[in-house]
Amino acid sequence: MLVTYELVGDLGVITINNPPVNALSQKVRQGLVEAIAEAQTDNSKAIVLICEGRTFAAGADIKEFGKPPMAPSFPEMNEAVESSAKPVIAALHGTALGGGFELALSCHYRCALKTAAVGLPEVNLGILPGAGGTQRLPRLVGVETALDVITSGKRVAAPKALELGMVDRVVEEPLQELALAYARSLLDEGAPLRRIRDLEVPAAQGSADVFEVWRKNMAKRRRGQVAPQKIVDCVEAAVSKPFEDGLQFERASFFECVGSDQAAAMRHMFFAERKAAVVEGLSGNAAVKPINRVGIIGAGTMGGGIAMTFANAGIPVTLLELNQEALDRGLALIAKNYSITVSKGKMSQEAADKRQALITGSTSYDSLADVDLVIEAVFESMDVKRQVFGELDRVCKPGAILASNTSYLDVNEIAACTSRPQDVVGLHFFSPANVMRLLEVVRADATSEDVIATSMALGKKIAKVPVLARVCYGFIGNRMLRPYAREAQLSMIEGASPEQIDGVLTRFGMAMGPLAVGDLAGLDIGYKARQALTPEQKGDPRSYCIADALVEMGRLGQKSGAGYYRYDPETRARSSDPEVLEVIEAQAKAHGVQRRTMSDQEILDRHLMALINEGFHILGEGIAQRPSDIDVVYVNGYGFPVFRGGPMFTASQMGLREVYDCICALRDKTGADYWQPAPLLEQLALEGKTLDSWSADKR
Ligand code: CAA
Repeated sequence: MLVTYELVGDLGVITINNPPVNALSQKVRQGLVEAIAEAQTDNSKAIVLICEGRTFAAGADIKEFGKPPMAPSFPEMNEAVESSAKPVIAALHGTALGGGFELALSCHYRCALKTAAVGLPEVNLGILPGAGGTQRLPRLVGVETALDVITSGKRVAAPKALELGMVDRVVEEPLQELALAYARSLLDEGAPLRRIRDLEVPAAQGSADVFEVWRKNMAKRRRGQVAPQKIVDCVEAAVSKPFEDGLQFERASFFECVGSDQAAAMRHMFFAERKAAVVEGLSGNAAVKPINRVGIIGAGTMGGGIAMTFANAGIPVTLLELNQEALDRGLALIAKNYSITVSKGKMSQEAADKRQALITGSTSYDSLADVDLVIEAVFESMDVKRQVFGELDRVCKPGAILASNTSYLDVNEIAACTSRPQDVVGLHFFSPANVMRLLEVVRADATSEDVIATSMALGKKIAKVPVLARVCYGFIGNRMLRPYAREAQLSMIEGASPEQIDGVLTRFGMAMGPLAVGDLAGLDIGYKARQALTPEQKGDPRSYCIADALVEMGRLGQKSGAGYYRYDPETRARSSDPEVLEVIEAQAKAHGVQRRTMSDQEILDRHLMALINEGFHILGEGIAQRPSDIDVVYVNGYGFPVFRGGPMFTASQMGLREVYDCICALRDKTGADYWQPAPLLEQLALEGKTLDSWSADKR
């Protein structure tokens, strides 16, 4: 039974039990409507609505999206609850999200465990609350708070929700007992049946053009996404229309969103992120080791960010540097980062102090003798890594996990520097490590199953999205970045400007264009890396000559005030620089390239196909476990638009045959051998197969 009803004295209790997260599937909605009807007919004076298991309902059953609507609909269910002649009190624990919180908003009162959180995260699925959330929440908490909660999709902790009026009471355990007591106190007080639908929306506090301000705000913060704009429209409808009309407007907007490509892409990402943590073929014996203390080598930006990540998860860290001065600098940077977070009101001083206190500095390797895991984040050179891992092999206790944060280097070679290659793994964080969610877990040939299982579980514990990769140059993300960066360089030398290239890709939805990213990262980094390569390894000179020329002119990117663009020294505002065009033209001439007008479509195709084709190589070689893992990497680590679902999802949406034809056309046009379609893509496209069918066959 997914929904049960019982009488406890003169109070009715409706319990939902639909593990794992009490999603409100059709059967649950049906059961709830029946239970409410039953409760109207007995001696109960009030009804408590509660859920079994780890959480109150976490929303609609996302798996039902895309299927024909099944009665009773959410609005019908909520209407039944709100219309109850007896007060209904929602008892919340865990996370009352989306349709779950909308159900709670249809109840007459809400009490929540102190540890609970509520929210309307639909925007993260490319949709909007379609069960009255955009109409009821503004009536309860006002327009500004409702817009903030719904467009951010954030979870609001129970104490804050109480402050905002989203819940009426915060209680401790045991929830059911205290919810029943709360129901009784409401009856004793003669509290009215508070139906939110009957409340007036409080007048907007902010400027008169509050909705215009939010539309602009969303166009910036959620660039390219449709749902956030529709959310603003719906909240405006809550103000301008009677409740029933507003509800209909919301419903129509919901259906427009739910059937959109954006929603399909974001749903794909939701499940892809969860699937990424699953390691295929791991034997049942793989044990997750306890990680109670972590050592980090290198207190630079990366090492410091990794240290903060662990401290934020409550895990003590020993941060190691070669000398006291570098260590002090690293610790001071961490303190500064925490104080910025506090000054923005995102963390209390007490919490920041607690986290900082978990990070202890050291200049001696011997202090790593007891750590369960050590991550090196030192200079990207095999010689340096060799030395570090030699030292770790000497000082670390048996069974400790030895991890490298390398972005490119061969983890097999690093493992071979130790007497315990089974304990060596790559843990590739992305900068700023305390902010970016992606973690590539790189499995070397000898890495043990225990170490893999532990690394994946740890990734989740420290609030990252872990993705497993095998060893190759650049693993999943940076390997795909190379052909993408190549196309940016070639597009420039063949005719496009940095502004055109970056414009095309940001309009597609990338967080930044490739050339602006280059300026941000520093052009000297790639330049230095190229110095260590042979001409064969460096590849076609046209794919790096402009970057080299700029560096040799002292244009290192943002840090030197100029790169592909010029930057205002005070504001860092970016502007075009005619000098760059001169450099491009000079390099084109030097390399015998006749520049031409390049269409936006060609630029987009070249960049996108470069990513997708490399993605197919990575899949075919078994570097990534599954196509969706590549999407998770690109969306979470490289600014690929979440509303397009990642490069492999984009390829699937286009159709593999079309992708294949596009790559063949680029090969025929350019004559470049790197435009050879990846064998796996060719096979699937010519056989008329999809990535989904390939994944299913593999299983
Ligand atoms: N529908 C279907 N399945 C869901 C689900 C949902 N709403 N929410 C979670 N699940 C599944 C997950 O896919 C996962 O399945 P597997 O174990 O098979 O991988 C399982 O439940 C557990 O989920 P998590 O691994 O995410 O568990 P967690 O404890 O880390 O997090 C959670 C729990 C906070 C509830 C998180 O799952 C979550 O954020 N869920 C989505 C919430 C959401 O977006 N709700 C809005 C839905 S849309 C809606 O409600 C529209 C409307 O207006 C009616």
